[in-house]
Amino acid sequence: MNKMPYGPTYEEMLHPTKADVTVRKHALNARNNELDPYNLFNITWRRDDATINRIVLPKSLTGIEANLVVLLGKDFPSGSHKVGPAYSTLIEGAVDGTIVPGKHRILGPSTGNFGIGVAYICNLMKFDATIIMPDTMSQERYERIKGYGASLDLTPGTESDVILTLEKTHEMNKKPENVALAQFELMPNYRFHRHVTGYSAIEAVQGVGNSRIALFASAPGSAGTLAAGDQVKKVFPEAKIAALEPYECSTLATGGRGQHRVEGIGDKMCTLIHNVLNTDFITLIPDDDAVRGLKIFRDGANVLADYGIDPDMFASMRDMFGVSGIFNIIGAIKMAKHLNLGPDENVVTVATDGFDRYASVMKNLEERYLETEDFVMRRWFKDIFRRADTSNIIDTRGQAAKDRLFKQKEDDWLKFGYSRTYLDSMKSMAFWDAEYDKVHVYNEKIAKKRKG
Ligand SMILES: Cc1ncc(COP(=O)(O)O)c(C=O)c1O
Repeated sequence: MNKMPYGPTYEEMLHPTKADVTVRKHALNARNNELDPYNLFNITWRRDDATINRIVLPKSLTGIEANLVVLLGKDFPSGSHKVGPAYSTLIEGAVDGTIVPGKHRILGPSTGNFGIGVAYICNLMKFDATIIMPDTMSQERYERIKGYGASLDLTPGTESDVILTLEKTHEMNKKPENVALAQFELMPNYRFHRHVTGYSAIEAVQGVGNSRIALFASAPGSAGTLAAGDQVKKVFPEAKIAALEPYECSTLATGGRGQHRVEGIGDKMCTLIHNVLNTDFITLIPDDDAVRGLKIFRDGANVLADYGIDPDMFASMRDMFGVSGIFNIIGAIKMAKHLNLGPDENVVTVATDGFDRYASVMKNLEERYLETEDFVMRRWFKDIFRRADTSNIIDTRGQAAKDRLFKQKEDDWLKFGYSRTYLDSMKSMAFWDAEYDKVHVYNEKIAKKRKG
């Protein structure tokens, strides 16, 4: 590969088999060496056999009639799908000439996984990187970022104080040698998820129930993942989209801004790239339900056996989810009940990462609860999954709700220098479709640059 390796187009992230045969071969081999730049061609929701990496959760476990399909992000290079938006933003800048190897330092504002993705991509593509993130995220995240050779600039607070990282990023971005991969505000994040995640979700339900999607649910951090729903709606117009929020930090639902425990989501803002036109429901879930739920998926073999999960199935699921993945599953269950979805219908959600970055979160849980024995987890399972009900679901399909969300976006973004005209243009679906269509332009640009 040449000095700055060029990776895949959007289309090749959706269909890695469309890459050149030799490149594909190198990419498959690169799975054994994380820092091999050919891993850029492994940024995809697909397994090596080209099937979509997903699980259809057993109904005995979810307790709902509908099929719950979870896209699994843990096998993306760097361990989460956030590497996709990181790569997409960097490669768009590189082909546009706004990001120049040897000249620019890359900034990654993040609460963790995006930062890990940015650090990783910069290692592969030979850029220096600084990750700006809150100082109380899980220890595993900092270790990984440093391991990829990026520096850390920590701002005070937790997940809910991500606004401080944003302010710091805007400050640092004023220096000409810095370029921010601003996940909350730049459209490559939207494009990656609408195209790559959207079509992967659509393919994930083929052969499941009626092979359509009735609901796409995701807890927004940057709200990039939610963009998959925009493409799902294009293909299945009846589909609904639910944005899931921590009950303790109900920013989109009610303007609430509390602290919470679900790393990666609930960042106290309506992000610039969030297409609120397509957000049909906002669903609130208590944060610790997701943490306790993860404990059950981790150590509750006997508990889940009561619901028909045999030891092999349990073992296969142990590493599949992080806290936000469980949070999304709980939200999807609530929404399936709210929408009365039947046995033929499909709900899709996402597990952004796997368990590998949450050992410290589980340790903290053990410290907070006196007992976590099977009899406790049995009670938790009933309370969290079985009794997941239809409370705290807000219908945001009406104009009043849209106006409130647009107002929230103005409050959050006018202060960063975005014009009212730009924000107003986001009130039309034409804006989002035009942004999406640039996928095709960048497909061509990336392929051309790669040829040299
Ligand atoms: C663990 C985790 N879950 C969920 C999300 C939210 O994804 P998105 O930013 O696409 O909304 C993130 C984002 O960083 C994350 O790290």
